[in-house]
Amino acid sequence: MPKQPAVLYDPTKTFDDNFDNGPFPLQPNETPYKNTGEPTFSFLGHQLYSPFGIAAGSLPTSKHVSYAFQRGFDVVCYKTQRSVPFPVNEFHNVVYIEVEGDLTMEKASRHLVAHPTSNKPVETITITNSFGNPSRGPDFWVEDMKQAVAAQCKGQLLIASVVGTIQPGFSQEDYYDDFSTAAALAVKTGVQAIEINLSCPNVAAEAAICYTYDAVLSIAKKVRSVIGDTPLIAKIGYFTGLQQQLLEKIILDTQDYINAFSAINTIQAAAIVDEQGKQLLPGKDRLKSGVCGRAIKWAGIDMVKRLDALRRQHDLQFEIIGVGGVMTPADFIDYRETGADVVQSVTAAMWNQDLAAEIKATLK
Ligand SMILES: Cc1cc2nc3c(=O)[nH]c(=O)nc-3n(C[C@H](O)[C@H](O)[C@H](O)COP(=O)(O)O)c2cc1C
Repeated sequence: MPKQPAVLYDPTKTFDDNFDNGPFPLQPNETPYKNTGEPTFSFLGHQLYSPFGIAAGSLPTSKHVSYAFQRGFDVVCYKTQRSVPFPVNEFHNVVYIEVEGDLTMEKASRHLVAHPTSNKPVETITITNSFGNPSRGPDFWVEDMKQAVAAQCKGQLLIASVVGTIQPGFSQEDYYDDFSTAAALAVKTGVQAIEINLSCPNVAAEAAICYTYDAVLSIAKKVRSVIGDTPLIAKIGYFTGLQQQLLEKIILDTQDYINAFSAINTIQAAAIVDEQGKQLLPGKDRLKSGVCGRAIKWAGIDMVKRLDALRRQHDLQFEIIGVGGVMTPADFIDYRETGADVVQSVTAAMWNQDLAAEIKATLK
C-alpha cells in the first residue's frame, strides 16, 4: 500500500472489515476540523462551507460519513445502495495500476499491469476498484442513512447514491423501475439530494447505462416521479469525442428531471493483469475493471469542460460535480477553474483524511 496508512477506507482489509470496523483514525481522539463563519458556497439550493467532498465509494456506513464530515469534507456521498441485498466481489477490491502519464482511452483498451501493493506517494497513485456495488439491503441502510443525515452539520450536504439491480425475471423496464424503488427508499431517510449511479451495466451488460439514451431518460423520469422536489444528480462516465452528440442530447432532454451531473466515474480498462499477464482480480467478469486516481484526471477535467460549454451554449441551469484524479489542492483548483460547481475525490481521500482541510486553506 502507499507509504501512509489508509484511514477512510483501507484496501488492505476486506470490504466487510471496513464496513463493520472502519473508519480507522490514526489517533483515537482527533480534533475535528472546525468550520467557522457562514457557509458561502451554493450548491443545489444548499449553502456549503466548501465546494469539496467525497464521491460515492469510500463511505459505506454512517460512521464513515460522520468521520468525513468531521474531517471537513462538506459534500459527501453515502456509498451506492440498492433496493435488495447484494454481495461484494471477492477480495482484493483495490489494486494499483502501472500507467505512465494519463490513462488515455487507447491505453485503457490494452492490458494494464496491476499490483496488490504499492509504495508510491498517495498523490501519484492510480488504482482500480472492483466491488460490484455491494449492499446489505434496505433493512440496514435506510436506518443507517438516517444516522448519516443526522451527522450533517451546518454548511454540509449528504448525497444518497442509488442504483438499480437486475433481478431474475426482470425486464428492462423492471430494472429501470428498480432505480426509483431504491431512490424512494433513500428519500424516506430525509436525505437532501439523490444521485443515480448510471455507470453500471445495462441489462445486456454491454456497456455502462449512461451511454444508452433511452435508459437514461427513462430512469431519470421514473426517479423524478418518486422523489418530489429533491435535487437529482446523474453520475456519468467519460464520453469520448465521438459520443459528444449523445452527451448533448442526454443533457438537453433530461433538464426537467436532473439538476446536476457528476462526472466522471472510472475509466473502464479492458484487462487488469498481473506481471505474467493473467487476470489479477479473482472471479467471473473481473478482467475488465474501472480505473480511478491520478491517471484519469484528464478525463474528468475534459468532461467538466464540455458539460460547462453545453450549459453556456444552451443557457441551462444544471450544476456540475467534477470527479476523477483529485489528489491535491491544485487538482481541486483546476476543476473549479474548468467549471465544476463542486469537486469530489475518492482515491486520494481514502488515505488523506486532511485533503479537505488542505483544500480549504486555498479558499481563504
Ligand atoms: C473504493 C472505491 C469505491 C467506489 N464505489 C463507487 C460507488 O459505490 N458508486 C459510484 O458511483 N462510484 C464509485 N466509485 C467511483 C468514484 O465515485 C469516482 O467516480 C472515481 O473513483 C473517480 O474519482 P477518484 O479518481 O477521486 O477516485 C468508487 C471508487 C473507489 C475508489
